[in-house]
Formats: sequence, structure tokens, C-alpha cells
Amino acid sequence: MGGAVSPKAPVGVFGIGRIGKLLVWYLSARKEHDTIVIATGRKTGQGLEDLATYLAYDSTYGPYSRFAGGFTGKSAVEIKNGALYLSGVKVVWLSDAAHRTPGGVPWSDNGVEVVFDTTGKYTDPTVNDDNSLRGHLNHAKKVVLSAPFKIKKKGTPLPADALTLVGGVNFPAYDAAAHDVISNASCTTNCCAPPIKALVDHFGERFISYSLTTVHAATNSQSVLDVLPRDGEKDTRKRRSTLNNLIPTSTGAANAVIEVIPDIRELGIGSQASSIRVPTMTGSIVILDISLLGDYDNEHIHGIFREYARRNPDIMLFSTEQLVSADIVGGTYSTIYDSRFTHRRTSKRGDGYYTMVDLNFWYDNEFGYVCSLGRLYGLLTGKR
Ligand SMILES: NC(=O)c1ccc[n+]([C@@H]2O[C@H](COP(=O)([O-])OP(=O)(O)OC[C@H]3O[C@@H](n4cnc5c(N)ncnc54)[C@H](OP(=O)(O)O)[C@@H]3O)[C@@H](O)[C@H]2O)c1
Repeated sequence: MGGAVSPKAPVGVFGIGRIGKLLVWYLSARKEHDTIVIATGRKTGQGLEDLATYLAYDSTYGPYSRFAGGFTGKSAVEIKNGALYLSGVKVVWLSDAAHRTPGGVPWSDNGVEVVFDTTGKYTDPTVNDDNSLRGHLNHAKKVVLSAPFKIKKKGTPLPADALTLVGGVNFPAYDAAAHDVISNASCTTNCCAPPIKALVDHFGERFISYSLTTVHAATNSQSVLDVLPRDGEKDTRKRRSTLNNLIPTSTGAANAVIEVIPDIRELGIGSQASSIRVPTMTGSIVILDISLLGDYDNEHIHGIFREYARRNPDIMLFSTEQLVSADIVGGTYSTIYDSRFTHRRTSKRGDGYYTMVDLNFWYDNEFGYVCSLGRLYGLLTGKR
């Protein structure tokens, strides 16, 4: 068992795609570590300089130097004596083919205790071999998955050392001595689980059901232009061009929310989730429709989220502004309640009333999610 982890130990990041790269940005800009160890398991471009350029600029968030230091005009990305530094933090790069397999990455030789697996390729916590999520534990104390767990063999229970954690929802469930394989769930779950938790805690049995739709920015799991679906692929609409389509697709958010809020199952609250991918680079919104027994006005609903945001100021922002998706890009919150966009209607049935409410929560699915990984890391190191 991994046990406690040191806040100063180098952090490991496996996979440097959208989430992995921005996690390196986040960690280096905070300067809490001397070293970050990244494993790509392959070379890139012509070598270290091209890795440096990849980390130095971003089509969505602009230059790293501006992100980390504002408009100083000084570069925060440097190569010194053959080593890469971001904001003075050394980035050790593991690029051998052997580092492509989780169990083959020499994390502990580089002082790493916690690894973030951001590849999206290793999601099954029940598999125990070198080429699995658990393989990281050959050489590290803990592994954090930047996605929901996916257990391939139906009916296999979640192992006792594995746990899904969502900030503002179930962080107290973490036991350093017991849990080494941790999922931070999806960006959508981090957006919708906190308000659903607030609603479940407030309404209990008066909460009948909810249906959520995430209108989600494009990701690299989609195709730039139409391509022939892969053999066996079910969600073939993801192979349609992301440039000019609204693409209906599935999301695992409904199950993941129940996993972190078991009261939903115990109270018999109905739930449903779907997703529409849209051609933006980041910035998404969850439309959450809820049905309640009783008569409640907007102010009652606002009060629930005002209080939740007061108690969880880094997780939820209570917004009174007329936002659009570009406004929340670069935001650090898991979820932003758009109080100006709440609609409700109460109906009478027999002697009783029921109220339907349409709620909206923004999230930066990339950087906002990376900040949720940062909060989870704070929990593992005892800082939260
Ligand atoms: N994008 C979002 O909004 C978002 C939000 C929350 C969570 N997530 C989740 O985070 C995960 C990653 O998403 P992403 O958007 O960052 O994907 P991405 O941009 O496609 O990045 C994945 C990266 O993993 C690398 N990789 C794959 N297999 C590898 C291996 N064996 N060893 C080392 N590197 C490997 C890929 O590099 P190669 O080119 O070398 O294969 C790529 O750079 C997914 O599970 C996703 O569901 C994404």
C-alpha cells in the first residue's frame, strides 16, 4: 500500500496530450516542486527543442510564459545544459519505447510517488499487469486516472484499493492507507456532481429525478474531418468532422455521479445523461433539468448554490453575469452556476405541487479539470 505521499516529491505525468500538458503547466507555474517527470514513451519532432516549443505555446490558452508570469515579455521555458525547465522547474523527459508501458516507467528512480495517467488508454483498475493502470504501481505509490474507471469484464467489483474521488463531493472517503488507484472522474462529472450533491443533501426524498446534457467542446477523441469508423466502434458519430457539426454522443457521467453520490440510488432518484459535442476548443456547459416534489421559487434554488459555493469556494462559482463559453476559459472552478439562466415552473397535481427547474453550470473541460486534479493532489499530499 502506498500510504502518505510527500508534497515535495517530483510528480509523474504519463501522456502529454491536452490534459497532461496543461497539468505540467499548472504544476510548474505553482513552483511547488523542483522536478516534474513526464513520460511520453516516444520521441517528438526533432527532439527536446520541439518538446519545449510544444509546452511553450498553446492554441487554446496562448503562450505558457503569459500563463505563468503575465505580460513580462520574459520566456519561462528554457533549455539549460540539455535539460528543460518551465518556470525554473526541471522537466525530466522519459521518451524510450520502454516508457510507453505503465509498468516499465522508472518513476521511483526519479523520486516520483504520485503518477497522473492522462493517456485515456488505461482505465480498468481490475487489470493487474505491466500494461495497465495498475502497472504504474510497480514504481510509484499512487496512480491518479484523469478519467472515469472502465471495468471491461461485466460484474467485476471495484478493487478495495480503487476509488473515484470528486472534489466538493466525496473527498472524505479517501483513506491514504487504503487507496492507491484513484479516478478523478470526468470533467463533466466534476461539473455536475457538486450541484447534484447540494440538491440531494437539500431536498432528499423530494428530489424525484434529473436529466443532464453536456454541451461539450471538441476533444482529440474526435476526427477533424469525416473518417471511416474503426472496426467494432459503437459511437461512430465521433468519426464525423468536429469542425462544423453538433455531434450527439454518449457520456458516462450518469453512472459516475451515482458512484460518488450513492444517496441517489438509495433515495431512488431517477437520472439520465447525454452529450453534444460542439466545435469549440474548450468551454462546456451542463444543462441540468430537475424535478422536485413541492413548490420552490428561483430564490430558493439560488440559496442552495449560494451556500454550497460559500462552503466550497474553489469548487463552485456562483455567477450573476451573462456569461458565454469564452468567458470561462482558463477558469479554475469545477463548476460555475449560471444563476441568470435558471428557469422553473411549478405545476399542481391533485393536492400536491411539483417543480421543474432548468439549471446551467459552466466548466472549462480542460484547465478547469486540471485544477480539479490539482485539488485531488492536494488531498493526497495532506494539503487539503
Ligand atoms: N480533453 C478534455 O476535455 C478532458 C477532460 C477531462 C478528462 N479527460 C480525459 O483525459 C484523458 C486524456 O484526454 P486528452 O484530451 O488529454 O487526450 P489527448 O489530447 O488525446 O492526449 C492523450 C495523450 O496520451 C498520449 N499517450 C497515449 N498512450 C500513451 C502511452 N502508452 N504512453 C505515453 N503516452 C501515451 C498520447 O500521445 P501519443 O500521440 O504518443 O499517442 C497523447 O499525447 C482521456 O481519458 C479523457 O477522457 C479529457
